[in-house]
Amino acid sequence: MRISLGLGATVVMAHSWVCAVTLPSTTSADVHRRDSTPPLTSHSSHSSRQRHPKQVVDTITSTSNVPGKAFDRFITIWLENTDYAKAVGDPNMKKLAKQGILLTNYHALTHASQGNYIAAAAGDYFGIETGDTYNIPSNVSTIVDVLEDKGVSWGAYQEDMPYTGFLSAEAVNTRNKANAYVRRHNPLVSFKSITENKARLGRCKTHTAFLEELETGLLPQWVFYTPNMTNNGHDTSVTHASHYASTFLPSLLSHPSLSNTLFLLTFDESHTYPVRNHVFALLLGTAIPPHLRGTTDASYYDHYSQLATVQANWGLRHLGRYDAAANVFAVVAGETGDVVRVHPDLGGVWLNQSYPGAFHRKYFAPIPPPNLALRVNGRGILPAIRKEWGELWRGKGTVYDGSLEIPWRYKPQVYKLPSEEELKIVEGDIEEEKEEKEKEGGKGGKEEEEEEEMATMVKESATATAAAAAVGGERTETAGVKGAAARERSAGSNGWGVGMAVVMVVVMGM
Ligand SMILES: *[C@@H]1O[C@H](CO)[C@@H](O)[C@H](O)[C@H]1NC(C)=O
Ligand SMILES: *[C@@H]1O[C@H](CO)[C@@H](O)[C@H](O)[C@H]1NC(C)=O
Ligand SMILES: *[C@@H]1O[C@H](CO)[C@@H](O)[C@H](O)[C@H]1NC(C)=O
Repeated sequence: MRISLGLGATVVMAHSWVCAVTLPSTTSADVHRRDSTPPLTSHSSHSSRQRHPKQVVDTITSTSNVPGKAFDRFITIWLENTDYAKAVGDPNMKKLAKQGILLTNYHALTHASQGNYIAAAAGDYFGIETGDTYNIPSNVSTIVDVLEDKGVSWGAYQEDMPYTGFLSAEAVNTRNKANAYVRRHNPLVSFKSITENKARLGRCKTHTAFLEELETGLLPQWVFYTPNMTNNGHDTSVTHASHYASTFLPSLLSHPSLSNTLFLLTFDESHTYPVRNHVFALLLGTAIPPHLRGTTDASYYDHYSQLATVQANWGLRHLGRYDAAANVFAVVAGETGDVVRVHPDLGGVWLNQSYPGAFHRKYFAPIPPPNLALRVNGRGILPAIRKEWGELWRGKGTVYDGSLEIPWRYKPQVYKLPSEEELKIVEGDIEEEKEEKEKEGGKGGKEEEEEEEMATMVKESATATAAAAAVGGERTETAGVKGAAARERSAGSNGWGVGMAVVMVVVMGM
C-alpha cells in the first residue's frame, strides 16, 4: 500500500507484519526538519536554547503501516510518583477508567524514577537508583532495535523539551521559571545506540512535534510520551496530573488519525517507598473492544509488560532480558496466543530498591548478557543481539531465566549457565538464519562468516557443557512459553482473578 508522508514523499509499505520489510532507520521518505522556526504552540516561548548547546540533529518525521494483531499503534504516557490507592481513588482517574481496562495488579520496578523509565526501554535498569545522567553503552539494545527490525516506526515526545535531540539534564520553562523537562524521564536519550545515531536522535522530539504529527496523520506506530514536571504530577499532585490526563487524553482517544490505537496511562513508581511498588495503569483507546471498556484485569503486570505486549502485537523479536518473559496484557494476549501467567509469590516482594548493576553507585555488577535461548510464543532474540553477546552468554551464562519474578535489592540477579538444550536452540537459530539468507540469495559476505564462526563456537560449547554435565556440572532449564490451542482461565491462588480468557499453554524446557 502507498501512504503519503507529507512533502509529496511516498513509501511503499508491506501488506502484513509477516512480510514486513525492514525499513532502515532513515528512509528516503523521512522528512527532516530543523526546529529553526518557533514552534506553533504558546508554551514554546521558553528558550532554553540560549543556555543550552544548539540543536544538532534534524527532526525526523515518518510513519509506517505495519498491522498489529491487536492494535496498529501504541502510545504510552507516564505520570509520576503516586501510590496505586491514591490514583485509583482520584475522581478524574475514575472517569477515565470507565473508558478502558484498569490493570489492578501492575507494578513499577524500583526507586527512584529513572530506573523504571530505562527498564521500559531496555528490559533491565542495570542497577540504576538515581536520577543522574547515564550513557548506556551502544551494545545494550532497546525497544527501538526490535521495532526497526520489523519496520515499525517510533518516536519519543517530551513536553517542554527545548528541541529535538536535546541532551542536557534539564530545562526550565523560562516563561514562568517552572521546573519543566528532565532527561531522567526521557528514557531513550540515555542510550548511546540512540544518541550516537542522528536518524534515531531525530526521533526524540517535542510536544509541538507530537501535535503537528497528530494533525498530519504522521505519528509513528510506537510512541513514548512524557508530560512535563507540572503535568506529570512530579511537582504538583495526582489531582493535577489526573486533571491534565483527563483534559489531554479525550481528544486523542477519539482522534481520526488514531484508529486501532492502544494507550497505556501509568505512573513510573509509587510515592511511598516502604511498600510494594504497586502503581495505577489504565489501557485506553480504539483498540479496546467496547465490551471491555470499564472493566478491570487483575493479572500480574509490571513495566516490562509494555515491551512484551508490543513485541507480541507486531511479532517482534525480543531483547533477551526481562522484556521477553513479561506478561502480555490479556486483552492483547487473547489475540496473539500469549500466556498470561500467575506470579508465583508476591508476598515479601517490594520492588522498591535496585539490585546491583553497572550503574549502581554502591553495588557494581557488569551488564549481564541477554538470554539467547529464550523462546516466547515463537518469538526469539534479535539476531544482532545474539551476535553481540553470544560469546559472553556462552561463557558466563545469564540472569534472565524466563521467570515472571523480577529481582530487586533483597533478591538480586543470579547467573545460570546455558544448558545443552539452550545451546542447541541457539545453534538451530543460527542455522535457520543462514538457510533463510541463502534462500534469499543474498550471501552476506563478512556477516555470514561471523555467523559461521559463532555457530562453531556454540557447537563446541554444547559439547563442553554436555561433558561438564556428565561429571555433575550445574544444569538449568529455560521455561519457554508457547501459544497453542488450550483455552485457560488464569486465576491467582491469592484470589486475583483475570477478567478474560486467553489462549495459552506453557511448554517447559524448550
Ligand atoms: C507544562 O507545564 C507548564 C507549567 O509550567 C504549562 O504552562 C505548560 O503548558 C505545560 N506544557 C505543555 C506542553 O503542556
Ligand atoms: C522497601 O520496603 C521494605 C519493606 O517495607 C523496607 O524494609 C525497606 O526499607 C524499603 N526500602 C526503601 C528504600 O524504602
Ligand atoms: C559492551 O560495551 C561495553 C562498553 O563499551 C564494554 O565494556 C563491554 O565489554 C561490551 N560487552 C560486550 C559483550 O561486547
